Amino acid sequence: MKGFLGLAGLAPEEVADLLALAARLERSPEPDALKGRVLALLFFNPSLRTLASFQAGMARLGGSSFVISPGQGTWLLETRQGVVMDGAAAEHVREAIPVLASYADALGIRSFAGGTDLAEDLEDSAFRSMVEVCPVPAINLESAIDHPCQALADWKTMDDLGIPAKGGKFVLTWAWHPKPLPLAVPAAAVHIAALRGMEVTVLRPEGFALPEPVMARARAAAALSGGSVRETADRAEALEGARVIYAKSWTSPLHYGDPQAEAGFRAGLRGWCVGDDWFETAAPDCRFMHCLPVRRNVVVKDSVLDGPRSVVVHEARNRMWAQMAVLHRLLLG
Ligand code: CP
Repeated sequence: MKGFLGLAGLAPEEVADLLALAARLERSPEPDALKGRVLALLFFNPSLRTLASFQAGMARLGGSSFVISPGQGTWLLETRQGVVMDGAAAEHVREAIPVLASYADALGIRSFAGGTDLAEDLEDSAFRSMVEVCPVPAINLESAIDHPCQALADWKTMDDLGIPAKGGKFVLTWAWHPKPLPLAVPAAAVHIAALRGMEVTVLRPEGFALPEPVMARARAAAALSGGSVRETADRAEALEGARVIYAKSWTSPLHYGDPQAEAGFRAGLRGWCVGDDWFETAAPDCRFMHCLPVRRNVVVKDSVLDGPRSVVVHEARNRMWAQMAVLHRLLLG
């Protein structure tokens, strides 16, 4: 692997290999595997899990890492191309990234969606332009339209819990949230479930259909694996027989870049908060998944999050094993 930029670029055998390696590293530690290796982590946006799990994972493999959060003790970085840099940013990523890479063996980048131009965010333009100037293997720590580390950890979580791949019903449901949120996690979740061969249903209110390129990518993954992908606004029908209810809020593509209009559009949708009643017609052992962070009693009720269905901490722990596998393959082959 030359980088870990998105699951769409990986063959199913490569995903299977990473999952097997993640499970092996969980069972059998390799505390010297990456001795002397350095991972650079560039965070343009906040994080708890991604930051901590990469640093912990690198340390468990014998390597080390450093974190740069532009503007927090370091220079603000410009990411736009061809601009006159007479604003707050003192340095451009075109210099900063090769410099950071010269200290490290791999570089992780977190760069969320700009949230103003849907076409640009769907292209992942800002993230891609940074990867282009990175001379060492790059890792996507969540970009505008993908979160492959989360997706890999979610796949491992479903394997760990014996959730069937072929034929297992995976419901990705939209949930209410006070702010318009990016499309990266829902795009990654729908993709990974489809690639795993599951029967994927995207449940969302009218006006929150995932953009066609996201659905097309998921359909292509389903075609490879024998799974299926569909969307509906019919909650009762969607939840029947579900093995997984995966909740996430995302912005309405109809009002992308217009938070005020978007807020008005979602105002009546507070009922989209996952409660125990959502599981009444689901499979008896249906699990609740969420990438975290999650707002309690906004996205999901306490009773679900604190109950036996919730596997959110398991998912978060698997971030570390999954990413250790990625680092192992990137740096050792
Ligand atoms: N799920 C996830 O990426 O969490 P953080 O934003 O805390 O890294």
